[in-house]
Amino acid sequence: MNTLLPNLSAEAALKPEIARRRTFAIISHPDAGKTTLTEKLLLFGGAIHLAGEVAARGERRRTRSDWMEIEKKRGISVSSSVMMFERDGFVFNLLDTPGHEDFSEDTYRTLTAVDSAVMVVDAAKGIEAQTLKLFEVCRLRDIPIITFINKVDREGRDPFELMDEIADKLALELSPVTWPIGMGGQFHGCFNLTTNDFHRVTDAGGTGYGGTTKLSGLDDPALDAAVNGGVLEEFRAQAELATSALPAVDMESYREGHLSPVFFGSALRDFCVADLLDGLAAWAPPPRPQPAGEATVDPNQDAVSALVFKVQANMDPNHRDRIAFARICSGRFSRGMKLNQVGTGKSLAVTAPIFFLADERELAEEAWAGDIIGIPNHGTLRVGDTLAERTDLRFTGLPRFAPEILRRVRLGDPMKTKQMRRALQDLSEEGLAQVFRTHLGGDHIVGVVGALQLDVMASRVAAEYKVTIDFEPAPYATARWLGGDPKLVKAFVDGNKSTVADDVDGDPVYLARNAWELNYVRERNPDIKFLETKEMR
Ligand code: G4P
Repeated sequence: MNTLLPNLSAEAALKPEIARRRTFAIISHPDAGKTTLTEKLLLFGGAIHLAGEVAARGERRRTRSDWMEIEKKRGISVSSSVMMFERDGFVFNLLDTPGHEDFSEDTYRTLTAVDSAVMVVDAAKGIEAQTLKLFEVCRLRDIPIITFINKVDREGRDPFELMDEIADKLALELSPVTWPIGMGGQFHGCFNLTTNDFHRVTDAGGTGYGGTTKLSGLDDPALDAAVNGGVLEEFRAQAELATSALPAVDMESYREGHLSPVFFGSALRDFCVADLLDGLAAWAPPPRPQPAGEATVDPNQDAVSALVFKVQANMDPNHRDRIAFARICSGRFSRGMKLNQVGTGKSLAVTAPIFFLADERELAEEAWAGDIIGIPNHGTLRVGDTLAERTDLRFTGLPRFAPEILRRVRLGDPMKTKQMRRALQDLSEEGLAQVFRTHLGGDHIVGVVGALQLDVMASRVAAEYKVTIDFEPAPYATARWLGGDPKLVKAFVDGNKSTVADDVDGDPVYLARNAWELNYVRERNPDIKFLETKEMR
């Protein structure tokens, strides 16, 4: 907080800083080009100076996260990270979402920390399963979407056919911004229908980017000189139809989630990546108010508040540290600030906050609403925590989901019970999996949404805590948090000891053997709520 100025002028100074921030994520099906696009966005944003060298890329991707053995083995990205860059006066915070479907819960939490998303679609494949799932999460959270139809340098489907499919499957209005001039072997570049920029291929032919020319419009003779007759005729007919039959970008409709601006392009060949950044700057919403129970917190408020949406333990295996990723939700944060960990009565001096720039970290001296800071800590911060100057504020909307797979933990060496408990506690607080302790027998039951999380859990417990665990089937199919009158909940817990466990916060869950049993117990206990989600504390 700026203590030199009275609040009103402090708020006036905040507004333009916050208004120039764009915090977004990329959603896509694996292989559509998310990694390539991320690198190119960082390159065009000036955050990295070399990107897209295909040969070097796999290697770099590995070194970036080689602390996670399993990621190397499976060749997938299992943790989300944050990248910050500045371009043309706008500050972009790009949050990476894990691409694999098993990590939907982590992805969901990451999507709570963004104001908009870019959906990458492969021009040859159209809408794929994972894109659809992630899109639905965005819709649930009213996150507006810009569409990037990638790989137009390769043979792809007809642009209108793709547009129709997206519009139908996602129930969205689409607004074309850039359009391909031919595809695959006939690819000649892309045309920006809103700026008349012609992004052309190199004179030598092929599909490489050869520069941009500002034209007078679709009829500009420069196009006749650069594009062969048949391809140009088809492009002009398509572009005219696209501009006359489809709506122009309407910012309000986009921000309300009804309309998506569409960019055809090629991340690999640098087509329309800069246009996409311009679109994000022009249309994507600045930091939005954040829900806190019945109320929302205005980002332009002077008082600083932040929400921890992700915790990553043991990023450096030599130090048992954790990084809590916090989105600043309001105000201007400055290093050294004391923030209350709301609900615990504790306060925390944030002395070493970190910004994540492409492949570097930097001490964050100040940060504004919309920015993401990393806060190193020794386990005090948990996913869902609110950090604020105020003590009466708690952000909501960051749920845990009832796990779909439950397994009993088996410990290799019984002398290591203590370490195992610590590992399970740490990793469940990180949100990697949920851990329940049964009332009868004290078994540790791990609950996950996707099976891959179990492998990650076992591998990390072994690598980071030197404890070998594996999982055996548990006689439960699902878990439900118990809600309702505390007295009735306690009576239920006392009467069902063999099927009740505590979660990591000590809240009781009912473990059902199958759907039939869950229904039966629910019918017999109409005053108890069996909840599929729990708000993280
Ligand atoms: P992902 O993160 O969404 O999984 O996709 P990624 O960027 O890794 O891209 C998947 C593949 O698609 C990569 O090829 C990448 O080079 C290619 N690709 C991405 N964008 C474009 C594009 O605009 N045009 C063309 N033609 N290809 C594109 P790969 O051979 O599977 O990867 P690699 O082994 O070369 O790293």
